[in-house]
Amino acid sequence: MTQELTTSLQADTARPSGGSGWWRDAVIYQVYVRSFADSDGDGIGDLRGARERLPHLAGLGADAVWLTPFYASPQADGGYDVADYRAVDPLFGTLADADDLVRTAHELGLRVIVDVVPNHTSDRHPWFRAALTGRPGGPDRARYHFRPGRGAGGELPPNDWESVFGGPAWTRTTGPDGAPGEWYLHLFAPEQPDLNWDCSEVREEFDSVLRFWLDLGVDGFRIDVAHGMVKAAGMPDIGRTEQAKLIGSQVLPFFDQDGVHEIHRSWRRLLDSYPGDRIGVAEAWAPSPERLALYVRPDELHQAFNFQFLKSPWDAAAMRTVIDESLAATASVGAPTTWVLSNHDVVRHPTRYADGSPARGLRRARAAALLTLALPGSVYLYQGEELGLPEVVDLPDACRQDPAFFRTSAEGQDGQDGQDGFRDGCRVPLPWSRSGASYGFGPGGSWLPQPAAWAGLSVEAQTGDPGSTLELYRSALALRRELPGLGDSGMTWLDAPAGVLALARPGFVCTLNTLGEEVELPVPGRALLSSAPLAYRAATVRIPPDCCAWWAI
Ligand code: GLC
Repeated sequence: MTQELTTSLQADTARPSGGSGWWRDAVIYQVYVRSFADSDGDGIGDLRGARERLPHLAGLGADAVWLTPFYASPQADGGYDVADYRAVDPLFGTLADADDLVRTAHELGLRVIVDVVPNHTSDRHPWFRAALTGRPGGPDRARYHFRPGRGAGGELPPNDWESVFGGPAWTRTTGPDGAPGEWYLHLFAPEQPDLNWDCSEVREEFDSVLRFWLDLGVDGFRIDVAHGMVKAAGMPDIGRTEQAKLIGSQVLPFFDQDGVHEIHRSWRRLLDSYPGDRIGVAEAWAPSPERLALYVRPDELHQAFNFQFLKSPWDAAAMRTVIDESLAATASVGAPTTWVLSNHDVVRHPTRYADGSPARGLRRARAAALLTLALPGSVYLYQGEELGLPEVVDLPDACRQDPAFFRTSAEGQDGQDGQDGFRDGCRVPLPWSRSGASYGFGPGGSWLPQPAAWAGLSVEAQTGDPGSTLELYRSALALRRELPGLGDSGMTWLDAPAGVLALARPGFVCTLNTLGEEVELPVPGRALLSSAPLAYRAATVRIPPDCCAWWAI
């Protein structure tokens, strides 16, 4: 079909750039430290390994790296259970390694964002150990949420809240004499007790933790569960099961309470008191784009992950709606939008988009990358997406580590075309080379088995192959830097046939065919890059199924 691709404006989402911070259009590469690169051969990625591989990020064209937690932790939830916020876990190296990594990144022109986990500590944190031996109502318990149980003997949890990982959000303590005692709240695993943010000591401690890492030179923080620190007064029952899902959008008395914003405001003041543009990015699960935008008001955090887009199906109309809503919501507060396709908590997008065909999944993933990199705002890349890595869907249960796996039956999990909805399949260590015990991940093995087919997806195998996903990302990121119209400026939609998205930015057009058949369009301009080969006929171009193309106009 041939259709007019006119430049008439539809919904004009153009907006002024409203500021010049580096983060407004940054490409930020997420390193899941445990699975990125292993320097010592124990099969677990570490900070030295990550530092040695930073040139890959710089060569890719990323502006910054976000490192997932590498702090001292019993690893009940991949390090999101922190026992000492100022120490590096020996699994991942030393504080000197963290320091080296930050310096090397800066030398390479990369900024560094680290995770901070303020909603909960590890159950091995000295505060929680003191709380367990402390008396009910005493100061040691005031830093957490301890409550007597309900029922005649206190044998029932204080309310009906459920853990995101399954089962009740409360665990009963046992006194030194073996008698059952109070219950404590944990929205995630029992090894992750929730902190009480009404306690001033908690606030002071986190200010000090942020300063510790800022003084070491980090450029910002990814704030874990930024929507969870404040719970509704009185902790009311919810009255139903199936409450919170990972990255969910339900309205709940333990998420997205108005009180969290005051904490983020105080952190913004702290960040602003440091030289350079230090940023905070919220991992917040909000019920709507409007609620999410509250986290990025001018006096709050700089960015929030846009999970609404991540959850959008492969459908042009649905994608356009989410893009419009996301841009409008963030524009209303003058913040940039972020675009995220994958992270360490979700099924990798080539698999999400596959609809039963891995080849289709990869086609769509490549196209989606070009779409998101063409949109206004900042883009988060999850390690390995530049290689087109799929989710690993046949992991043996014996090697799984996701705490949700141990607390939930596979039934009822939303598999989203992954193995079963658990999170190990997106955390398999990266392949760097065609051969070697762990395809170059490290000198030893790998904590999760890598599929043999990943030899062909390794950085080594894809480098220099013009048809590879890695070279597509490299070209796209280079163009994104070069073209003044990309990054943090406005965009307009162009008229396009059903199933096709066409958007214009200054001097630039992006066309995405989401259909399973090719579409023929008037040639929009000079072809810059496309996720699949294009075919021309006179003044028209045929865009293959599930393909995105960039044009200079
Ligand atoms: C965030 C992290 C996730 C972790 C959870 C609890 O959602 O991304 O990996 O399990 O917080 O800290």
